[in-house]
Amino acid sequence: MSTENDILLDVKHLKIYFPVTRGIMRKKVADVKAVDDVSFIVNVGETLGLVGESGCGKTTVGRGILRLIEPTAGQVFFEGQNILTLSAGKMRQLRRKMSLMFQDPLWLTGSPPKCRKHRRRIVNYSQDDEKQG
Ligand SMILES: Nc1ncnc2c1ncn2[C@@H]1O[C@H](COP(=O)(O)OP(=O)(O)OP(=O)(O)O)[C@@H](O)[C@H]1O
Ligand SMILES: [Mg+2]
Repeated sequence: MSTENDILLDVKHLKIYFPVTRGIMRKKVADVKAVDDVSFIVNVGETLGLVGESGCGKTTVGRGILRLIEPTAGQVFFEGQNILTLSAGKMRQLRRKMSLMFQDPLWLTGSPPKCRKHRRRIVNYSQDDEKQG
């Protein structure tokens, strides 16, 4: 059982829908429910990987948490703060501590220094895994 102090990231009922539009007036006719009611917790020091078939919404969850896409509904608490309510300026500051890790191991540049340490850990971890077969 994790206490509030252990929790780094708490995603509650995250939904991200993309509108499907039709005609010159771009009338909304449906939604692509890319992420539909996703909840999870990541504790301090824990690593969580999102795994699933292509198109199931892994990247969209990550982009929603960083607010590179605005979520349709839900809450995202990072270090106890509901980041979906932060101003654009506060969000820019926070993104220095957060970065997406894609499955492509060649994606190795451009992330904040704190994330580089974790990226090295993940790359080393997967190399150890390969050695063990
Ligand atoms: N900007 C967008 N507009 C409309 N639909 C989108 C948009 N971005 C993603 N989608 C749709 O949302 C769904 C989830 O896409 P997403 O890229 O998150 O999947 P994924 O799990 O990361 O797939 P992959 O393993 O191939 O990277 C897909 O059906 C995709 O077509
Ligand atoms: Mg993806």
